[in-house]
Amino acid sequence: MLSQKIEEALNGQIKIEAESSQVYLAMASWAETKGLEGVALFMYAHSDEERMHMLKLTKFINERGGHAKISSLVAPPVSFGSFKEMFQTLFDHEVMVSQKINDLVDITLKEKDYATHNFLQWYVSEQIEEEALARNILDKINLIGDDKGGLYLFDNDVKMLTSNTAV
Ligand code: FEO
Repeated sequence: MLSQKIEEALNGQIKIEAESSQVYLAMASWAETKGLEGVALFMYAHSDEERMHMLKLTKFINERGGHAKISSLVAPPVSFGSFKEMFQTLFDHEVMVSQKINDLVDITLKEKDYATHNFLQWYVSEQIEEEALARNILDKINLIGDDKGGLYLFDNDVKMLTSNTAV
């Protein structure tokens, strides 16, 4: 059985994951209008991943006798400046999510809820991967700079990332 404190904290994370899904969906749509098909595919896939993160929390809360609450969400931005800025926003967003997961882990230890602590380890590992992937992409963008041909190759590269890795 979940304590009220843990239930509220997990419900807070449901909202964060759902908002992450919306932000990446908005990025996908923006990239698509700019003609970068690979980046758009990457962001659509990433948005789906975030929805899966949200659903996993929803089911866990309900399985443990709590009630997962589906709340309204903050609307994401419509445009994202440059591609570099967009991926920087993605990276910063993931760092924020990692911090929230760490805070949750901290609460489970204080509440001695070891089942939820164990459940959250999946998210801890996932965040390490997500941050590394975002950092990797940012490094590539920094190498390209303003080169248009480079951007075309980058778009293809990101498309490959989408088909080869779980985002
Ligand atoms: Fe669910 Fe990208 O954090």
